[in-house]
This record gives sequence, structure tokens and C-alpha cells, in this order.
Amino acid sequence: MASAVSLVAVIMGSRSDWEVMRQADEVLAQFGVPHECRVLSAHRTPAETAEYVSGAEGRGMEVIIAAAGGAAHLAGVCAAHTVLPVLGVPMESAALKGLDSLLSTVQMPAGIPVGTLGIGGAGARNAALLAVAILANSRPELREKLRQFRAEQSAKVLRERLP
Ligand code: RP5
Repeated sequence: MASAVSLVAVIMGSRSDWEVMRQADEVLAQFGVPHECRVLSAHRTPAETAEYVSGAEGRGMEVIIAAAGGAAHLAGVCAAHTVLPVLGVPMESAALKGLDSLLSTVQMPAGIPVGTLGIGGAGARNAALLAVAILANSRPELREKLRQFRAEQSAKVLRERLP
């Protein structure tokens, strides 16, 4: 979603993460949250990652979502460069099915927090929903949209009929 002021940054370590992370993009768009999606790697583009995240608060951003797989240090590196809330999404990896990504993202030493979501698509969607919830603390219209989302989700479940 293009906007003058993005409130959420969705960063991923590789273009190969996009097919999963597009789900976060879709949820944020669904809620009308101005955001931007970027490929930035903690190890392949360390200087650019630090520069982007360091400047995020000054550009009006309020939440950073960082997704990476394998030895996934992107979310932790992002958190080291900002006091904005950082939500980490572990990507499923070929070798270890994302367990490596999960542990690398979630096990931050005390002092630099990363709010870690689940592995893969569910984590991507929940990171976006959590970002919306954070923004909704000061935006009543977003909170109302969240309530509506939950109500529609409940109604959908209750409409299910088993064969
Ligand atoms: C991480 O390494 C990325 O976040 C990705 O999940 C994983 C593999 O990246 P590619 O080798 O596919 O670019 O940095």
C-alpha cells in the first residue's frame, strides 16, 4: 500500500520470504493501515538494514515486522536499532522446518525484546493483526475494525456444517 507516511514496516530477509509475508501485507491492506514492504537482510545488507530501521521512528513508523529464516537474526538486529515494537516472524526453512528460525528469533537475551509470532503464514497474519492491535491503542476506528474482524471470524466458524 502506497502512502506518504507508513505506520508499519514489513521487512523480510529474502525475496524468497515474500510468498509467506504477502499475507501480512494483505492483512494490513485489509485494515487500511499504511505500510511498506522491503527486502533487507541482517547479514547480506547489514548497513542498509541498520540505516532503514534507525530512521523508521523519525519517518513516523510505529511498528516493525521482521521475518527471516534459518539463523534468523533479522528481528533481533532490527530491535537493536530502534525502540519501536518489533514483531518477529520465523520463516519455515528447508533444513529444519523453521525450528531454527523460531529459536533464533524468540530467544533474545534480556534487554532487547522481540515479540515472536508462530512459524510461517499464521505468524505472518498474526504479526499484522498484532500490529493493528498496537496501532489501535490510539486509534478507535482501528479498534472497531478489529472487533468487526473478530465477529466475522466467529460467525464464519459458527456457520460451518460438517458432512
Ligand atoms: C534468510 O535466509 C531469509 O529470511 C530466508 O528465509 C532464508 C533463505 O534466503 P534465500 O537463500 O532464499 O535468499 O536470510
